[in-house]
Amino acid sequence: MTKITPQPGIMEIALYVGGASHVEGVTDVVKLSSNENPYGPSPAAVEALRRSAFELHRYPSTDHVGLRAAIAEIHGLDADNIICGVGSDEVLQFIAQSYAGPGDEVIYTEHGFSMYPILAHAVGATPVMVAEKERVVDVDAILAACNDKTRIVFIANPANPTATMIDLDECARLADGLPDGALLVLDGAYAEFVEGYDGGASLVASRDNVIMTRTFSKIYGLGGLRIGWGYAPRAIIDVLNRVRQPFNLSNTQLAAAEAAVRDVAYTEKCRTDNARLRTWLAEALAGHGVPSDESFTNFILARFDSAEEADACDTYLKSQGLIVRKVGGYGLPNCLRITIGDEPACRRVAHAIGQFKGGAR
Ligand SMILES: Cc1ncc(COP(=O)(O)O)c(C=O)c1O
Repeated sequence: MTKITPQPGIMEIALYVGGASHVEGVTDVVKLSSNENPYGPSPAAVEALRRSAFELHRYPSTDHVGLRAAIAEIHGLDADNIICGVGSDEVLQFIAQSYAGPGDEVIYTEHGFSMYPILAHAVGATPVMVAEKERVVDVDAILAACNDKTRIVFIANPANPTATMIDLDECARLADGLPDGALLVLDGAYAEFVEGYDGGASLVASRDNVIMTRTFSKIYGLGGLRIGWGYAPRAIIDVLNRVRQPFNLSNTQLAAAEAAVRDVAYTEKCRTDNARLRTWLAEALAGHGVPSDESFTNFILARFDSAEEADACDTYLKSQGLIVRKVGGYGLPNCLRITIGDEPACRRVAHAIGQFKGGAR
């Protein structure tokens, strides 16, 4: 027997499963399984990336000052309260690593993002799942589940894979009801898709127990480059920076992200196109007998009559070159999560689901 054993919790982790990107034997495939921006990043971000190639022999900045300043300027925030990471996943990891450990509890919700229990296990803490109400985060249920071991509450707002959200008053009620020593993490990976929503930044500014995380992987179309950020009280940023590697982001990541966040017009166009096609797709699917909750994101959670029907539809969509996401692992076996693609992709998926519901298998 080997004496080499991993830390407690590590072997409890189920490996993260990403969205598929190809179908055996099918060409002309459209990937609608990872909530990516179908238009790609801003051309300004691509140009900044290209130019950064001439600086590859230089180490990047350790304090991300340029990117933090750009984020602060565009979002009206204080740059000193921002931390940048390799995707928002890394910022979430800093939070778990810094604030939870063996004997502590980390709360996430019934259909919450799968990284939350993974991160809790990774630091040896106990993930505690709390029921949602009809696929919406239930603040009262979370508060009832809190105790003196609770260290972190993770919620995505808007949420993945449900696409629902709770309003800022509910977030404030949650933050204010938490026991002393517990942090509320508002994961805003999809915040930019909600017109006028600050992702919870105002709550961070007025409280000492709220952290907001954001990503460049969704509306900014830079998932392949891996950049995210967090906004938190100064004392928390100071803690998170101690576990962050000094050169966690490359020159290329920093340059592309800065150009992307500064291209406000491009982001706005992506938001309005997404909102228009999201309404169109939700109505088209409803017309085919496939309802969904109002979505605040760049995807729709399509509900089928049964898990069997959702599976059969997934198989049919694949045969048509359309890859969507099965979400049985999120406790939603009768649903499929469908990213809002460009207009031809939306029309194609609506048409194929119509054919499926009409009897094509
Ligand atoms: C709710 C939520 N949080 C965080 C992430 C991670 O994003 P990133 O690519 O910034 O690590 C995702 C990605 O799908 C997500 O859906």
